[in-house]
Amino acid sequence: MAQLWGGRFTKETDQLVYNFNASLGFDQKLYKQDITGSMAHASMLAKQGILTEEEKEEILDGLKGILEDIQNGKLEFSPEYEDIHSFVEANLIDRKGDVGKKLHTGRSRNDQVALDMKMYVRDEIGETDLLLKELLESLLKIMEENLHTYMPGFTHLQKAQPVTLAHHFGAYFEMFKRDRSRLADTKKRLNLCPLGSGALAGTTYPLDREYTANALGFDGPTLNSMDSVSDRDYLIELLSDLSLIMMHLSRFCEEIILWNSNEYQFVEIDDGYSTGSSIMPQKKNPDIAELVRGKTGRVYGALMSMLTTMKGIPLAYNKDMQEDKEFTFDAIDTVKGCIALFNGMVSTMEFKKENMERSAKNGFTNATDAADYLVNHGVPFRDAHGIVGQLVLHCIEKNISLDEMSLEEYKAISPVFEEDIYEAISMKNCVEKRNTIGAPGTEAMKQVIELHKKYLKENS
Ligand code: ARG
Repeated sequence: MAQLWGGRFTKETDQLVYNFNASLGFDQKLYKQDITGSMAHASMLAKQGILTEEEKEEILDGLKGILEDIQNGKLEFSPEYEDIHSFVEANLIDRKGDVGKKLHTGRSRNDQVALDMKMYVRDEIGETDLLLKELLESLLKIMEENLHTYMPGFTHLQKAQPVTLAHHFGAYFEMFKRDRSRLADTKKRLNLCPLGSGALAGTTYPLDREYTANALGFDGPTLNSMDSVSDRDYLIELLSDLSLIMMHLSRFCEEIILWNSNEYQFVEIDDGYSTGSSIMPQKKNPDIAELVRGKTGRVYGALMSMLTTMKGIPLAYNKDMQEDKEFTFDAIDTVKGCIALFNGMVSTMEFKKENMERSAKNGFTNATDAADYLVNHGVPFRDAHGIVGQLVLHCIEKNISLDEMSLEEYKAISPVFEEDIYEAISMKNCVEKRNTIGAPGTEAMKQVIELHKKYLKENS
């Protein structure tokens, strides 16, 4: 046990207490941020005349060596250190002697951990955003290739009106695009530097907080030292952003699972992204999609956990806050893994276009268009609705689609119908006529795809 605070204690910490309290097992993930933050702090201390130039150089050299040795595996995180901050500081003292003991001047682990966590989240937001962008590129490619792939659009999981695969995927494009912008908002709001807040009440040393904030890529220093060390809002925002990403992935997975089923046969998930059954030889299971859907619960759990942990904590830092890490790390890793796997699955999936189109035809998805045909011939919409209802009943009795009815059959129900009804309710027409922006018609979709391309270029 190597603690930074042994001075006022007369007894050794009980081993169980030590283990319960220690966080190195998980906060070692913060080593890079911790060392980078320390380097900026040391440079600032020297600039302010609190350390000499030589002392600073020694400290920076020591920290650099620690970073390299962790990265090349020479230095292992041994459990005798309480947390990543103690680990780095103790190692620095081992390497550089007394000068290492000066690093913690004007600093507390409270502002240090707040800084590390913010920098970690900032880095991870960048990585998550990149993965989302790659997913959006895959979706856009599929959209471009499927402007004319007709399929049923559903409401209540009942076939409603025909859309295209491009349009359906376009809905998810919007969701993941919003997810990126939410992550960017979170990053923007968190980007104020807590370093220099000390334990809770700042410090008497003449620290230059602007300098460290700037050196570490922040927009400026935080403005209240008590809030600085006890603010975990940005983690709650991040976990909320991540929960929404998972919710979107989960809905998408649910659809892919349905589409991949024997009943739908709209898609076939590639063998590389499917698994078999140990007992049923015919099975090819969509396990990856199911797991992504399942892991959504885990990320929601992290959000609930963090909200609950924070709800009763008085100002300022309290040890409860150490509980922010494991769930957050897990949620970030889970989401990144899920986006990457989902992207792989969706870009290797085979689309069974004929089945999609057949399904759209068989489900009376063109019934609204048949009613619109009547309206265009002077029939009031409410009457047209009733007439098409009769057509549908007739088709159900005969087990045929609207396209398969003869003109005589049409005329028997309403004399308004003429030969051009077939053209009016063709899948092509039903979709292509819908060209208000946001609708599935080819012209509208092409406009949207151009906007998406521009967006991806501007937000890389
Ligand atoms: N391991 C701690 C955490 O994760 C670091 C801050 C410790 N500060 C303290 N006063 N015990 O929150």
